[in-house]
Amino acid sequence: MDKIVIRGGIPLNGEVTISGAKNAILALMCASLLTRDEMIFHGVPTLNDIRTTKQLLLQLGVCLDDFAAGTLRVKAAEISDHTAPYELVKTMRASVMVLGPLLAREGKADVSLPGGCAIGARPIDQHLKGLEAMGARIDLEGGYVKARAERLQGTDFTFDLKTVTGAENLIMAASLAKGTTVLRNCAVEPEIAELAHVINRMGGCIDGTGTETIVIEGKDRLHGVVHEVMPDRIEAGTYLMAGAVTRGDVRVRHCRPAHLSALLEKLDDAGLRVDVGEDEVRVATNGRVKSNDVETAPYPGFATDFQAQYMALMALADGQSMVTETVFENRFMHVSELVRMGADIRVSGRTARVRGVQQLSGAHVQATDLRASACLVLAGLAAQGTTEVHRVYHLDRGYDRLEDKLAALGADIRREKDDIL
Ligand code: EPU
Repeated sequence: MDKIVIRGGIPLNGEVTISGAKNAILALMCASLLTRDEMIFHGVPTLNDIRTTKQLLLQLGVCLDDFAAGTLRVKAAEISDHTAPYELVKTMRASVMVLGPLLAREGKADVSLPGGCAIGARPIDQHLKGLEAMGARIDLEGGYVKARAERLQGTDFTFDLKTVTGAENLIMAASLAKGTTVLRNCAVEPEIAELAHVINRMGGCIDGTGTETIVIEGKDRLHGVVHEVMPDRIEAGTYLMAGAVTRGDVRVRHCRPAHLSALLEKLDDAGLRVDVGEDEVRVATNGRVKSNDVETAPYPGFATDFQAQYMALMALADGQSMVTETVFENRFMHVSELVRMGADIRVSGRTARVRGVQQLSGAHVQATDLRASACLVLAGLAAQGTTEVHRVYHLDRGYDRLEDKLAALGADIRREKDDIL
């Protein structure tokens, strides 16, 4: 296994180009199951979660081919298996997104229950309730969801809560169902809109994208398309916060600023200079940022996927801030590691009280999930001395060439073999 070694205290300066969005391409790869035709995706980042999804699709009998860097060809002409096994689902919960398309197309899907994971229990009851409303029979057997349906039927379904992959699963299922499905209280994350847009280009009929009520008219057949994956808003925000925490000046290119509104508002309130262009954002400071409370919320609120990185920023800010996590339980595992670097943070329930300190100091830290790892890298970039971030496989799940991009911004960062697990 690898570790990331950072000598901190260097302000980041320059430009970084954002890669394709992890959470968009994962859904799109699953949507490839909806058609027998070839799907071609451009702008595909190099990430372990994509490798895992490829493994899963291969296991289902799908043909895959990376015929050029950043380009992925997927063809699900035949589906020979309908099982998403425990070994894959446990490493990547997003595997559950094959449930909707497999069931809609093949009439059966056996998908391992994801089980507990590092950021809370994360049940999939909404996915299952929605599919049942569409006429599926669902049994839980041996840790697997066994879903069966002759043909899914359109329905009127209201989500009890906002769920991103839940919405994506049901949109995919409804696209091949008989009749019209109305999904209410639907999450509105940009990756959901991207999926709906691609399904529409495949011959689907989805209305209301970007609103909480989505209407899907099911089709008998969808066809293949060529698609360029949207930029990763979480990667973009992470680099902006990396610039801010090191008191530097970073411009992220090839991003969609509208997807970053809640974060940019917070960075502006924290006293950073924020310049927004058509497809780029620049954040700069030469002083200490001001403390500023935040509460995570589904889109368009402040993303839970930014909470850990924002906490690294607040750990060095002037004053005290309250960081409240409302989307996931147990998404504060980075706190104890930040404290080991000298941060003054106390957690009470869903809120962390962060008292900004003048300086963090480098330490050995353990990554526990993807965004927690990004938070530790940011803290390491700002800290005095050397930080070693262990368990880098979490970072490799979701950040494309992280060390190269940070090094190009001036960071002293390298990847080494790790003897500590
Ligand atoms: N929830 C339920 N029942 C369900 C589904 C969700 O109770 O059936 C709860 C979850 O336990 C959680 C909340 O609803 O408390 C929101 O979960 P959601 O389903 O929206 O999360 P997800 O779809 O599993 C996606 C992203 C996450 C991101 C969240 C929230 C993908 C592949 N993953 O997860 O991304 O944090 O939405 O925006 O799209 C990441 O990239 O690091 C990451 C974790």
